Amino acid sequence: MEKKITIAIDGHSSCGKSTMAKDLARAIGYIYIDSGAMYRACTLFCMQQGLILADGTVDAAALESLMPQIEVSFRLNAATGRPDTYLNGKNVEADIRTMEVSSHVSPVAAIPFVRAAMTAQQQRMGADGGIVMDGRDIGTAVFPDAELKVFVTASDEIRATRRFDELKAKGENPVFAEVLANLRERDRIDSTRAVAPLRRADDAIVLDNSHITIDEQKQWLLDRFHERISTLTEQP
Ligand code: CDP
Repeated sequence: MEKKITIAIDGHSSCGKSTMAKDLARAIGYIYIDSGAMYRACTLFCMQQGLILADGTVDAAALESLMPQIEVSFRLNAATGRPDTYLNGKNVEADIRTMEVSSHVSPVAAIPFVRAAMTAQQQRMGADGGIVMDGRDIGTAVFPDAELKVFVTASDEIRATRRFDELKAKGENPVFAEVLANLRERDRIDSTRAVAPLRRADDAIVLDNSHITIDEQKQWLLDRFHERISTLTEQP
């Protein structure tokens, strides 16, 4: 049987990484893991526990002592055919996608012990290969030996428009300028944090998807996958 590889898809906020990662996983029969959902679930936990202080900073000392109580998992939703995110046994898929969570997630994700806990869990989930994981540090820190690495980006305005439309479709009432400011601020925090900052791995293939359709993007990724598999099988 063909060897199952590890596929790391990283990139900027709201650039459609998860859509392409999910579609690829489904097409090739791999497991899909949304690492951003795990940081979002941790952030929701902080909000529920009152750990986000009035000035927007996180009570890291309190969070560190509560960290062992955070259990994030994924379960397939039969209706959508996609995994839903669970926080301590409760389905939080919708709750983690709000603007409020988006506005607090990057400071939470910058905390070293939060990253250590999530990274360890992600490495366990992907230990046997056959996984497509998307995020910010998958190709650089979580799976530096991944056989296929992709770094996705698109212009700020296009990314903000996509996220704005997505939030609207979900019944939220987003303000475009806020969505744009949030994604720029998250990119800034994610790229400048001390631990596992967002950056392109040296061996990642770059995709700027500003002007391509979802179908074209899907095909592009599938082609990269087959290309990589054929180079691996050609090797003695
Ligand atoms: O959906 P979007 O691309 O906007 O973000 P996401 O993938 O849901 O990730 C939300 C946030 O989690 C990011 O802005 C990062 O702060 C953090 N994150 C991270 O630090 N490392 C990852 N591997 C994935 C996400």
